[in-house]
Amino acid sequence: MNKDEAKEEILRLSKEINYHNHAYYVESNPLISDYEFDKLLEKLQELEKQFPEFSFESSPTKRVGGDITKKFQTVAHTFPMLSLSNTYSEEEILEWENRIKKLEDGAIEYVCELKYDGVAIGIRYENGFLTRAVTRGDGTQGEEITANVRTIRTIPLQLRGDFPQDFEIRGEIFMPLASFLKLNTEREENGEQLFANPRNTASGTLKMQDSKVVSERNLDSYLYGVYGNNLAFEGHFETVQKAGEWGFKIPLQQSRMIEKTDSAEGIMNFIHFWDKERYNLPFEIDGVVVKVNNYAQQKRLGFTAKSPRWAIAYKFKTERVETKLESVVYQVGRTGSITPVANLKPVQLGGTTVKRASLHNSDQIKRLDLHVNDFVYVEKGGEIIPKIVGVNTEKRTKDAGIIQFIESCPECNATLIRREGEANHYCPNEDACPPQMKGKMEHFISRKAMNIDGLGAETIDLLYEKGLIKTSADLYDLTFDQVVELDRMADKSADNLIKGLVESKNIPFERVLFALGIRFVGETVAKKLAKHFKYMDALIAAKFDDLTNVGEIGEKIAISLQQYFLNEEHLHFIDRLKKAGLQFEIKEKVGASNKLEGKSFVVSGVFNAFSRDELKELIESNGGKNVSAISNKTDYVVAGENMGPAKLKKATDLGIAILSEDEFIQLINK
Ligand code: IVH
Repeated sequence: MNKDEAKEEILRLSKEINYHNHAYYVESNPLISDYEFDKLLEKLQELEKQFPEFSFESSPTKRVGGDITKKFQTVAHTFPMLSLSNTYSEEEILEWENRIKKLEDGAIEYVCELKYDGVAIGIRYENGFLTRAVTRGDGTQGEEITANVRTIRTIPLQLRGDFPQDFEIRGEIFMPLASFLKLNTEREENGEQLFANPRNTASGTLKMQDSKVVSERNLDSYLYGVYGNNLAFEGHFETVQKAGEWGFKIPLQQSRMIEKTDSAEGIMNFIHFWDKERYNLPFEIDGVVVKVNNYAQQKRLGFTAKSPRWAIAYKFKTERVETKLESVVYQVGRTGSITPVANLKPVQLGGTTVKRASLHNSDQIKRLDLHVNDFVYVEKGGEIIPKIVGVNTEKRTKDAGIIQFIESCPECNATLIRREGEANHYCPNEDACPPQMKGKMEHFISRKAMNIDGLGAETIDLLYEKGLIKTSADLYDLTFDQVVELDRMADKSADNLIKGLVESKNIPFERVLFALGIRFVGETVAKKLAKHFKYMDALIAAKFDDLTNVGEIGEKIAISLQQYFLNEEHLHFIDRLKKAGLQFEIKEKVGASNKLEGKSFVVSGVFNAFSRDELKELIESNGGKNVSAISNKTDYVVAGENMGPAKLKKATDLGIAILSEDEFIQLINK
């Protein structure tokens, strides 16, 4: 391929990828499979590597991040970034509407929209390309965080349609609740401090130096205002519609998220609807914004020093109730972290009964100055877990003692430790404290780790109580006879469990490494380490600097790894797993061949030794072709677990060969 052809192909691929990206993220209507999408992206990455002179800033490959910003530059806003006047009172919204009516003669149309609870952003587009993204800052100047904003899939890097040549679009970047929950679950599993709420997490994420991490955090956005000279639109609603046509994610794509009305009644309806409905949104909002639609009217109404007169925000009141603190109990996590939990007298809040609230750590108990039998205030904003926000000290009895954080582990009695710079207390007895031992095994067998079929937390509990297992290595010594003895364990289930253990010996090294449950070694870190060191022995032998030289492995992770391997018992544990036959080195990829030439495959379901994408890669590297739907042209269906019954029936009806994972491996190893 010569340079001109390469450039043309790069631009064509970029356009195609942008198109599918929009279909997937903005319209939630994917037109091709993830696998096909990844293939397009890989092709583009490959070409950009070959022809770096055509690796453009706005290339969709930039979505995965990689650019590091050491220090964010402060830049002045072209148009000041004002805030909104806001109120918690419906009365004041009506007064505002009345004032507008008096100031403006003609008919007035209002646009009601959601007040997204995130971080305000101003993004400039020149000739259709994203060139700069700046935070609000103090309103006159903000921080330039372009590299990080480029990773957000719902913000187009290149526009489509009929867009102005130079303009700035403003909106809110936020973290959807699902991303927030996923992130906190991962952090909990890795023994890291949890994030407090989606808004702060979004804000912290946008200020990270490594855009790759930002890319993995799944931020989202809604855009709500366009600024520029000589823009040809008459009103706000029309502009939002246009922004949608240029490729932005706008609220019009969902029902009732933006509404036009010409009356106070219409405004109130919108407020009341969302005050209830907000709990069903996949992200948090903290109110509703009402704007005068027409730009000429907006201009006449003008601004006060801080905010426009033509708009107002109604903020939802956070529901708060008072209830009695009945006791504080302490939970011991898999990593030994101690979480104090408040047991509360059951109380209704935001449509559910609340009985418990997390107190996070000892500092939080101190901050609240919590006493025995206190009456506490509990709030539930849009958050998932209710929190105690204060104490009604007037109801406190004189003799009520202060709540003292425990000093020894409630499960094994070991003296707790608190490491410097960390908020949590830990039980250090990691290899003998029951919930830690059980927790480690539960983690070991979990889906993303060893994915052991037929084995769940309940069975781990039973096996542990019977004294049959203490560590995950003991699992591989279990016999059918031992297992079948357990309560409620049928022959078939016992058989499944033993089979599941045998099959887990094919699980690739990176997942075994993750399964060990080393502090701070989550899925991503395990992958990086496995790829870099290739062998467990190399990882064990690695010096501190060898570890920190691996991209994204910081000091914290390096220290944790070294401490783990310093412990003889851990080395012995690894040795036993090795002897049991688990993978402790990266398997060489089954070589490329043309064994599957001319054959077409449909891959469906969940697999043990490979991810679905890895399987598809194998098919291609051996000359086969992947297709997404079963037809009479399909040669093979590779069927994993949970393959849909409809697909299975279709394949059977058409007489297509159905291969299990093992049969497929045999086919390419033949
Ligand atoms: S319009 C001239 N619309 O709320 C002000 N703001 O205090 C233009 N926000 O900084 C802002 N959702 O970050 C507007 N639908 C929405 C919004 C919204 C959230 C944020 C924004 C702004 C703050 C206002």
